[in-house]
Amino acid sequence: MFAVIGGSGVVGSTLMKMERRQIARTPYGEPSGPLNFATIGGREAIFLARHGPGHIHPPHMVNYRANLWALREAGAKAVISLAAVGGIAATCGPGVIVIPDQIIDYTHGREHTFFDGGDKQVHHIDFTLPYDSELRGALLAAAQSVAEPVVSTGVYAATQGPRLESAAEISRIAGDGGTLVGMTGMPEAALARELELPYAHICVVSNWAAGRGNSTETISHSAIEATMRASIDRVAKIVDAYARAL
Ligand code: HPA
Repeated sequence: MFAVIGGSGVVGSTLMKMERRQIARTPYGEPSGPLNFATIGGREAIFLARHGPGHIHPPHMVNYRANLWALREAGAKAVISLAAVGGIAATCGPGVIVIPDQIIDYTHGREHTFFDGGDKQVHHIDFTLPYDSELRGALLAAAQSVAEPVVSTGVYAATQGPRLESAAEISRIAGDGGTLVGMTGMPEAALARELELPYAHICVVSNWAAGRGNSTETISHSAIEATMRASIDRVAKIVDAYARAL
């Protein structure tokens, strides 16, 4: 069984037919919403809306620990994280799907570890390759099998939000090597690694990041929504092909 965490513009019903809902509780509190059990590509899967039903949890207030804990407790063996991102690199324009291979974390003040004292021994997870290589490979193969073009590498820059970035902040991130920017990739990826849950991102570029492309003056929210609506079926096709190949 695998899990899908859906981000902005990705409600479960657009991806799969829900069969059963379960409210979960964890030692870290409640996850963003109910776990939705569904069948994708003939396989059992769990869908969790990262921002909750009705999009109520902003990126810095998502209970990432509870989300990952609940998914693991429910039997997930891998987590596919879907996310809307801003595009920084020239190859990452609106509508492009990216499966990044690296992360830079600019977030702060979030509950970012399960190893936070008490009776738990300190544990420094390896994060050289922040995404699971096997899962990334399977997603890339799935995209290829359904002829969906994807950008097969990328550096996901996780910013604090909830505001979008300034143009200067994006220039700085670009200088650091970031090619995509989003607000939820961390601590999600690191927490998954702490739980030894294979984790990978499918990112949909919803807009040019601040100061790039057509975002020199402002970033249009209605354009973001339209791009996400137009791209979600392509993401669903990739996830479906991934499940069928399991
Ligand atoms: N910046 C940060 N997060 C985002 C963006 C962006 O431009 N677009 C979608 N998520």
